Amino acid sequence: MKKKLIAGNWKMNGSLAANETLVNGLLAGMGVPACQVALCVPSVYLAQCQGLLAGSTMALGAQDLSQYEIGAFTGEISGAMLQEFGVRYCIVGHSERRQYHFETDALVAAKAQRALACGMTPVVCVGETLAEREAGRTEEVVKRQLAAVIHANGHCISEVVVAYEPVWAIGTGKTASVEQAQQVHAVLRQQLQAASNQAGRIPIIYGGSMNAANSADLLAQPDIDGGLVGGAALKVADFLSIIASAC
Ligand code: 13P
Repeated sequence: MKKKLIAGNWKMNGSLAANETLVNGLLAGMGVPACQVALCVPSVYLAQCQGLLAGSTMALGAQDLSQYEIGAFTGEISGAMLQEFGVRYCIVGHSERRQYHFETDALVAAKAQRALACGMTPVVCVGETLAEREAGRTEEVVKRQLAAVIHANGHCISEVVVAYEPVWAIGTGKTASVEQAQQVHAVLRQQLQAASNQAGRIPIIYGGSMNAANSADLLAQPDIDGGLVGGAALKVADFLSIIASAC
């Protein structure tokens, strides 16, 4: 059985002091987990968190990268820059970036490609809005989003992590039911299987109001290989408890 992956997405939260307390609390309480744990932190805190995580089994992650290699792109951060700070995972296509920064499927696919070219694992987010779910379009939407990434990345698709994050479940306290989540994960699994004979090794993780109370049930589903955790990743006890339920 492959190890589950629990990744915290801090989003735009944190401060030097708060990060130190959070990471030290996690390190003190975690021991050596039987699952993979990653922290996707704001870029300005990568150096700090690289230092705090040094020698631990927790991996460092970023929340976005530029699709370009280098050059005149004010405000952007390149894959090579992230790599210099030991970044192992990079979220691409989070719904907040699709929504607030107008990221398209093609752009997300290009970012996944750039992350892979820089030796990082892209955590490719897909997910439907409430309106899309209510219109019965969930499958169509997530398959379209994933297809763009499969198309752009060819056989390298076996090197990505896919995160199913229903937009209506993010930060709302509304979690997808285990049945709803498993159903979409199974669809994504099938799509990956059709694209790659290595699909079995691609983790498909769930995100959207995952917390200490619901993580065990979600993670027990056959096609849920981990979690991408927002709010609960900012609280030591909650994140530790999610990690424990994955191990
Ligand atoms: P919440 O866990 O706060 O709902 O956020 C999920 C998410 O967007 C992780 O990327």
